[in-house]
Amino acid sequence: MSLLRALPRRPLASLVPAITTTSRPFHTTPAPSRNKKPTPSTESPSAGSYARTDESISVSYPAEGALPSSTPVTGTGRAGAHVLPTLAAFSLQGRVAVVTGGARGLGLVMGQGIVVSGGDLAIVDLNKDEAVKQTESIVETFAREHPGAKKLPKVTAHYADVSDPTSVETCMAEIIAAHGKIDNLVTSAGFTENFEAISYPINRMRKLWGVNVDGTYMFATAVARHLMERKSKGSMVFIGSMSGAIVNVPQPQAPYNAAKAAVRHLAASLSVEWAKAGIRVNCISPGYMLTALTQKILDDNPDLKQQWTSLIPQGHMGNPEDLMGPVTFLLSDASGYVTGADLRVDGGYTVT
Ligand SMILES: NC(=O)c1ccc[n+]([C@@H]2O[C@H](COP(=O)([O-])OP(=O)(O)OC[C@H]3O[C@@H](n4cnc5c(N)ncnc54)[C@H](O)[C@@H]3O)[C@@H](O)[C@H]2O)c1
Repeated sequence: MSLLRALPRRPLASLVPAITTTSRPFHTTPAPSRNKKPTPSTESPSAGSYARTDESISVSYPAEGALPSSTPVTGTGRAGAHVLPTLAAFSLQGRVAVVTGGARGLGLVMGQGIVVSGGDLAIVDLNKDEAVKQTESIVETFAREHPGAKKLPKVTAHYADVSDPTSVETCMAEIIAAHGKIDNLVTSAGFTENFEAISYPINRMRKLWGVNVDGTYMFATAVARHLMERKSKGSMVFIGSMSGAIVNVPQPQAPYNAAKAAVRHLAASLSVEWAKAGIRVNCISPGYMLTALTQKILDDNPDLKQQWTSLIPQGHMGNPEDLMGPVTFLLSDASGYVTGADLRVDGGYTVT
């Protein structure tokens, strides 16, 4: 059974007051230098205030069904056919990609990017109903925006709890039966929560690592075994986070940060181990992206949005579409000599 289902059903709105109690002027005055480290006794009230976590911020991942569906990207300008030819190496034609966590949010839009780039797609998600709905929506959107297309993409939906080995194995067999093969993998199934470390419930921490780290590892090794049996090359992209390289403020999330650091180094480690088999493994580390979860929190908490965006050089959060190009690049032959890399898609957050 999914632990997400077992989490206390706290409505998201009930989390809001905890967040709004934090109001610090991130956007008005320059942050104190990180080099100055006053002793606690001489600290001014503002010392460290832009660079510390705030234990009063506590956010549980919402229960299933508490968030709205994502909608596929539309508009030929970004995802359509009316563009001049581009490098053939970017095409995913003839490839089959699996996207875990593909029924919503970033996974859904990355899956759509794969389809628009010519690939077939298997969406894997805990929420099978949502995945089924989105397969229809992706194909409909594609057909509408590519009226001259000779063939429609094959898009299928599959249930898996990526943290459960039996579920992963069953799901892999189902995908191979449906598509005949797998060439590419994107591991987007993952979630975050905010609790101060000293009171983080251990069962939630284990589930968080189980989905983000074990889930990535189990799907990647299953796809690698399949590719090695076929003696076929392939490319995988793990979805990490900038939180795997920096510590977000003000929300406390130590286990998530550590899990995403593990995802990034897993990509590097497996890229070395599987290079001789022709399997490339890279990581994408998104910054703050506007998905259903972040949008809902920020709609009610403009203060928090200001704090986050004031730390992003580009001055705004990312859109899920911002990952379509990076994921297509890393899965395609255009990145043939790129493996073990971490591509940060964060508006410059981690370089300051
Ligand atoms: N949204 C952001 O700002 C952001 C930033 C950096 C990294 N990320 C990472 O990107 C990934 C996707 O995030 P999102 O914002 O799209 O989240 P989301 O909650 O909108 O979507 C996650 C999807 O994963 C599925 N899922 C969750 N647990 C699963 C499990 N055990 N097995 C199979 N499917 C499962 C959910 O049902 C959902 O469809 C996550 O790994 C997240 O940590 C997100």
